[in-house]
Amino acid sequence: MSKNIYLPNYEHSENAHIQSMEQYRQMHKKSIESPAEFWSEIADQFYWENPYDVRNFYSFNFNVKSGPVQVKWMEGATTNVCFNLLDKNVRRGMGDKIAFYWEGNDPEDYSKITYKKLLEEVCRFANVMKSKGVVKGDRVAIYMPMILEIIIAMLACARIGAVHSIVFAGFSAESLAERMADCKCKVLITADSVYRGDKLLNIKNICDSAMERCQNFGHEVQTCIVVRHLPRLYRSTNHSNGTNGNASDVIDLHSDVSWTDGRDFWWHDEMDDVEPACYPVWMSAEDPLFMLYTSGSTGKPKGVLHTTGGYLLYAATTFKYVFDYHPSDIYWCTADVGWITGHSYVTYGPLANGATSIIFEGTPFYPDNSRYWSIIEKYKVTQFYTAPTAIRALMKFGEEPVKKHNLNSLKVLGSVGEPINPEAWLWYYKNIGNERCSIADTFWQTETGGHVITPLPGCTPMKPGSATFPFFGVNPILLDENGQVIEGVGEGYLVFNKPWPGMMRTLFGNHERYQSVYFSKFPGYYCTGDGARRDEDGYLWVTGRVDDMLNVSGHLMSTAEVESVLTEHPDVSEAAVVSRPHPIKGECLYCFVTPNSGVPFTPKLSSELIKKVRENIGPFAMPDVIQHAPGLPKTRSGKIMRRVLRKIAINDREVGDISTLADEHIVDELFRNRPEKT
Ligand code: WTA
Repeated sequence: MSKNIYLPNYEHSENAHIQSMEQYRQMHKKSIESPAEFWSEIADQFYWENPYDVRNFYSFNFNVKSGPVQVKWMEGATTNVCFNLLDKNVRRGMGDKIAFYWEGNDPEDYSKITYKKLLEEVCRFANVMKSKGVVKGDRVAIYMPMILEIIIAMLACARIGAVHSIVFAGFSAESLAERMADCKCKVLITADSVYRGDKLLNIKNICDSAMERCQNFGHEVQTCIVVRHLPRLYRSTNHSNGTNGNASDVIDLHSDVSWTDGRDFWWHDEMDDVEPACYPVWMSAEDPLFMLYTSGSTGKPKGVLHTTGGYLLYAATTFKYVFDYHPSDIYWCTADVGWITGHSYVTYGPLANGATSIIFEGTPFYPDNSRYWSIIEKYKVTQFYTAPTAIRALMKFGEEPVKKHNLNSLKVLGSVGEPINPEAWLWYYKNIGNERCSIADTFWQTETGGHVITPLPGCTPMKPGSATFPFFGVNPILLDENGQVIEGVGEGYLVFNKPWPGMMRTLFGNHERYQSVYFSKFPGYYCTGDGARRDEDGYLWVTGRVDDMLNVSGHLMSTAEVESVLTEHPDVSEAAVVSRPHPIKGECLYCFVTPNSGVPFTPKLSSELIKKVRENIGPFAMPDVIQHAPGLPKTRSGKIMRRVLRKIAINDREVGDISTLADEHIVDELFRNRPEKT
């Protein structure tokens, strides 16, 4: 074995679910060779209204040439995910166990909810939705901050068979409108406002504007339910200003919320007086549970659809093994519920295991840079799951903020969203984990539903930067450009030739696109769109996207999406966007812009473009650089040579072969035009 291997902590391994690589290999082998046997033993731990048939446990076709691509697990069985997460745990005697500790943006804002209370609230909200005419199969859009009501809303959907479509509350009105119109949601659930650090964001206004724009797409949202979050927030303002507030200020803040009678309803008014019980709707294992939009390389978002039975098994099982969860643990995932990580590892996975978790509304930098560490100390967190971009941002402040806090409760650290660079890994391992905690570098995607390549904390020897080995049921394969399987050491396209229960089933309303995006490049394989390398010890290293997608602070987006916003500007003739490495965000957007002929490239144009991207997509998509491009490097057939632009973005003159360019001089000119001289 090569050097730079970190072994799991022996003390933790002794109590771990999987204690040795031998045990892991045996279980993995069984999961691949006898999936029905492997997963039905897990399915037995859940409640099925109609049982599954072990002889017909799953079926699939990954080969577009032999018919439509399809994946099915436990078809015919019926269950309800919400019932399994809540009722079942309450019936097991866990009603008084804390399901969530809520920690607000302000350290003095916090609360908690037990399993029993959560079940009641979910039932009440399910009844509210029923009263608004929501029935099984209807789509419900959710655009909310990290408050307990977002969990209640999603589980209430699951209870009555409505399909939730959560849009991260950092997306713009335009993005929200596009997603709501695409899924034709009947209802939108939101809140009045949210604080981010010391900034107040009125998200109801964003929703109003989105609902209005939705009509341009020919869709009307019938009902909007709004959580009143402001009173709590108002107290936060006072803390941050150090002043004392009074009641009239609170009223002023509320009057800012615009209202459309007949369409808009306050959550608390609706929840008053409804029954705290609601019989679950039994869903077929292959009925949709939720959809979640993710960026597509053409720019139009893809509505990834997950179904009931398989997703439940997979979210629950990955949570249990990857975080080595035990009943007395306190688990914290910092991801926003608006992303897939928040679906699988804030909501579904932890609750399916009866876990106690933390849900945090704020940011790592407020009120100061030790907020994460103070929360870990406050709740004695045992598993902490965050993103490399957060780790890199916090590393900047050195060890001082960390040392102020006792982090000895930690057992497992997780990382998700992008490859973690070894420097960040080591900092995390040494300073946060105190060299005692395993790091689970979990590779997965919105589409995979749960972790697919990851170390297991009790057994996997770790290499910083490697996601290591496949989870149960997952069979990763590397292919070369010609679709030939690469055995042993090598680098290629990361693909899978078998389904696992939690993978997506289709793209909402567009099965064709599902087949063409994921299954057409290499017939017979699900193509992740990522590249990976296998080293001499068999470890997998995910190297990043191989398509025109990029990952900014763990947010996946496509260059096409940003280009189309830039070219909408009346002064812009053409735009090409590439990714450039960034020390904290991982990658950032570097945009080349050609103005219309006769239009000068000015700082004003540049800031208008940045603003436009911010407004059209969201603040996280803001470009770092807008460069004037009098022309773009194109081949004679008109294709933009992005690899050349990527070199210009990093000021690397080794541009490689450019003989196929229609005009080679443009490359020099673009180097001269770089706004930064380094
Ligand atoms: C990237 C997030 C390397 C990858 C759960 C993938 C990673 C995309 C890792 C999916 C990791 C995520 N190592 N790359 N541990 N985790 N990625 O859909 O490019 O938001 O395809 O899901 O993030 O992003 P998504």
